[in-house]
Amino acid sequence: QIQAAVEELLSRMSIADKVGQMCQCMASNFSFGGAVATDPPEKLIAEGRAGSVLGAFDINRVFELQKIAVEQSPLGIPLLFNGDIIHGAQTIFPVPLAWSCSWDMEAIREACAIAAKEASASGLMYNHGPMIDITRDPRWGRVVEGAGEDPYLGSLIAKAQVEGFQGSSLLHEETMIACLKHFIGYGAAEGGRDYNTVDLSEGILRNVYLPPFQAGIEAGAGSVMNAFNIYQGVPVAASAELLKGLLRDELGFDGILISDYGAVDEIVQHGYAKDAKEAARLAVNASMDMEMVTRAFDSIPELLHEGKLTEAQLDEAVRRIVTYKYKTGLMDDPFRYIRPEKEREYHFSADHLQSSLELARKSIVLLKNDGVLPLARNAGKIALIGPFADSKDLLGPWQFSRYGHETVTLYEGLQAKGFTEDRLLYAAGCGVNSALEGGIKAAVEQAKQAELVVLALGEGSEMSGEAASRMSLELPAVQRELAEAVISAGKPVVLVLTSGRPLVLDWFERHANAIVETWFLGSQAGHAIADVLLGQYNPSGRLTMSFPAQTGQVPVYYNQFRTGRPQTAANASEKYISKYLDGPNEPLYPFGYGLSYTSFEYSGLSLDQNQIKPGETLRASVTVKNAGTQTGEETVQLYIQDVYGSIVRPVKELKGFAKAVLEAGESRQIVFEISSSDLAFWTPAGGYVTEPGDFRVMIGSNSRDVQTASFELIQP
Ligand code: IFM
Repeated sequence: QIQAAVEELLSRMSIADKVGQMCQCMASNFSFGGAVATDPPEKLIAEGRAGSVLGAFDINRVFELQKIAVEQSPLGIPLLFNGDIIHGAQTIFPVPLAWSCSWDMEAIREACAIAAKEASASGLMYNHGPMIDITRDPRWGRVVEGAGEDPYLGSLIAKAQVEGFQGSSLLHEETMIACLKHFIGYGAAEGGRDYNTVDLSEGILRNVYLPPFQAGIEAGAGSVMNAFNIYQGVPVAASAELLKGLLRDELGFDGILISDYGAVDEIVQHGYAKDAKEAARLAVNASMDMEMVTRAFDSIPELLHEGKLTEAQLDEAVRRIVTYKYKTGLMDDPFRYIRPEKEREYHFSADHLQSSLELARKSIVLLKNDGVLPLARNAGKIALIGPFADSKDLLGPWQFSRYGHETVTLYEGLQAKGFTEDRLLYAAGCGVNSALEGGIKAAVEQAKQAELVVLALGEGSEMSGEAASRMSLELPAVQRELAEAVISAGKPVVLVLTSGRPLVLDWFERHANAIVETWFLGSQAGHAIADVLLGQYNPSGRLTMSFPAQTGQVPVYYNQFRTGRPQTAANASEKYISKYLDGPNEPLYPFGYGLSYTSFEYSGLSLDQNQIKPGETLRASVTVKNAGTQTGEETVQLYIQDVYGSIVRPVKELKGFAKAVLEAGESRQIVFEISSSDLAFWTPAGGYVTEPGDFRVMIGSNSRDVQTASFELIQP
């Protein structure tokens, strides 16, 4: 039915109408990133020169612009309204890097569903998310938007996010089209510098960066956005090999392919096209459907006239765009997403705040604890010190909430737990990046009067996200100065860290009694942190990115390749091995790591078979015991190493995990099924293969601390 309607509409469209559908404009006259300012949106829309609008975060603006499209544009085709709803619309959830540490797919799905519910009530039906780039270099600011370094976990999270945003049908007006970004390789920017060049082998591309996209497409994502980078010397926006070949033909993606902001124009900046017209030809040839904000596609009519593009190519793009206008119900009712009564009901509602709080607690990762945590409810005086002690900058980048002023600070969170002013001393000590007159002295005074210090340090939200790369992964110098002064007061210190990326914490590991990584936890941050500090929530988060011991180690990730000269305990002092002269190879905290207020013991790893044939499955079991004194949740992790192959394989790869809530003293057997298809990987010579040979199974509480067993995949 939709198909027939789309064809009927197409048959009535002029070339200009078609090009118009392929262009996106901004909701205001705003432009950034070197992109040229264009005609005002009202003019573009009335002339039928825009098919979608980015950044209309106000319901009245959506209404105004949609009315112009419907009433004044030549064919009255409604607009799609796009926005970056990355971790919430009005109720803000933890940043995606944080929520990935929950390893809780249902909670992530729910967060995305709530984000879509709130955003769509304000007129937006097309999300510029989820961001599913694999991220291995914490210098890159955009690691905050993704699910970390692992392709397996990243794929599960990509799927959960698509299902959350899109629900079971886009026709339901409380959902949004999910856009998988950025296809592909953006996370591999050299030196972690945003928009920088990328040099990737096809093996890494397919075995590391591609799986989340594959999972997102299988989950039915309606859109994909290209990456800004080059691949094998070709800007992805112009790459027919990647966009047409890999994405469309091989992965079967038939939704809307949108360029990133200005990425078509930037084909010229990359030096791959003479001018914007040539860039437009390359992008359309590569099967790009929609240009974000810049206007290279305005030269499409000329390209058609010159025989450099065909109308059939245009039809394909427009067909895909208009299909989603039908799928979202816009063609029947252009105003169906404009629901002020639902905004009032949903935005920042008590239910949504509760979901945000629950996910925030699950996202916190306890990195160190010498026993100082949890704090007793009746603890004596606490000195809460640092630029994040009473800061509302806990939402992180990519949020446009009108409720930022209601973000719960850590100070407020502790107050809500009964820490009245006489027991809760406070000093900011310094700003995030700046000194405060007398600030450090005042902070030390407070520390001296208290029994314990909670030191709230970190990065401001503008220090991560797009165009926020850092050379150093240390805390700003002024905060380190504050920490040194406060710690020298001699009181136990709990470091509560706010950050959008893994930071270098070796000094704090040596000097603080406990370290709690809280990322940017969203609207309810202060309550969630207080719950963990006081033991009302037993921390269960597990890292999804390794924390380097030093910045010079990066990129450092658990699933690296084996080297010919590996460092071992036995050869550590030899010269000609793969090592640093001035520090360890290992990260400070590895992938999968995170502590609890209880402890877990692993024993008895066993496999039910030592050999399997292709198509068969074996079972690996291990017993996990809660050896502490309180209930806790463990994330039992399964890794596999392919011992040798036709290409070199990683030291280990996550292939499964299971969550277990265990009471004090309780033991449980955890069983994983491993099938031969779990062993598949891509090789240049054979495509996707499963190769006979030896495999190691590793099960443990993180990627470093594992028990090992072996099996063989034999020829049938
Ligand atoms: O969606 C984003 C993208 O991730 C980076 N550039 C800007 C886009 C639009 O906001």
